[in-house]
Amino acid sequence: MSNTITEKKNAALKAVEQVQSGMILGLGTGSTAYFAIEAIGEQWQAGTLTDIQAIPTSEATAKQASSYGIPLLELADVDRIDLTIDGADEFDPQLRLIKGGGGALFREKLVAFASDKMLIISDASKEVQYLGAFPLPVEVLPKAIRLVQRVLTEKNCQPVLRKQKDGSPYLTDNQNYILDCHLGKIDNPEQLDLMLHLVPGIVETGLFLGLATQVIVGQGDDVKVFE
Ligand code: A5P
Repeated sequence: MSNTITEKKNAALKAVEQVQSGMILGLGTGSTAYFAIEAIGEQWQAGTLTDIQAIPTSEATAKQASSYGIPLLELADVDRIDLTIDGADEFDPQLRLIKGGGGALFREKLVAFASDKMLIISDASKEVQYLGAFPLPVEVLPKAIRLVQRVLTEKNCQPVLRKQKDGSPYLTDNQNYILDCHLGKIDNPEQLDLMLHLVPGIVETGLFLGLATQVIVGQGDDVKVFE
C-alpha cells in the first residue's frame, strides 16, 4: 500500500473508533471517507455495531453504504446527526477546510452543519498554512453560470468550469455546475465566503468554516489528532 493510502486508512480507522451503536451518522465522500464507510460496514455486518442509520453525502457513498446493508436516511428525515466522518482537500491550523474536489460539497456542507461532531480524516498532504492552493469549488445553478463566471472573474477568483472527460460540464448530484476558483492563497476565508454567498446563482461554496470538530491525520504510520 502506498504511504498516502496507508495514511488515509489509518485516519479513517481512528475516526471510526468514535462510532457507537445507536448513532445517526453522516457519511462523507471521497477516497478517504471510503475507508471509514468500509470499516463501519464491516462492523455492521459483523454485528459489533448495531442500530445505526446513516445519511450519505453523495450517490457514490449511498451505493457503498447500501452494499453493506447499512440503513440509509435522508437529511430531511432528521433534525440532527450525531457524528459525521468526511475527508477534505485542505485544512489549515484553525481547522478551516476546502472541500468539494469530488463534487459533493453541497450535501457535505448540509450534513456537516447538522452534525454534533464532524470528524475530518486526511492524509498528511492536506495540511496547509493557508487555504487556497487547492482550487476552491463553488457550486452554481446552470442557469446562472455565465453571470457567476463573469462576477467571479471580475473579483479575481479565476473561475474555471469543471468539465467531464468528454468536454461537457461536470454535473453535481444536484444537477448543478462547479466553478473551480484558482485563488492561490486565501487571506480571509470568512470574508471570501460571505462575498461568494452574496452572488445570486451560487448554491454553495467549498469553504467549510467552523464546522470541523476534529481533524484526524495519518502521518506515516502514526495518526495525529487536531482539535
Ligand atoms: C468530495 O466532494 C470532497 O469534499 C472530498 O471529501 C474531498 O475532496 C476529499 O477527497 P479525498 O478523500 O478523495 O481526497
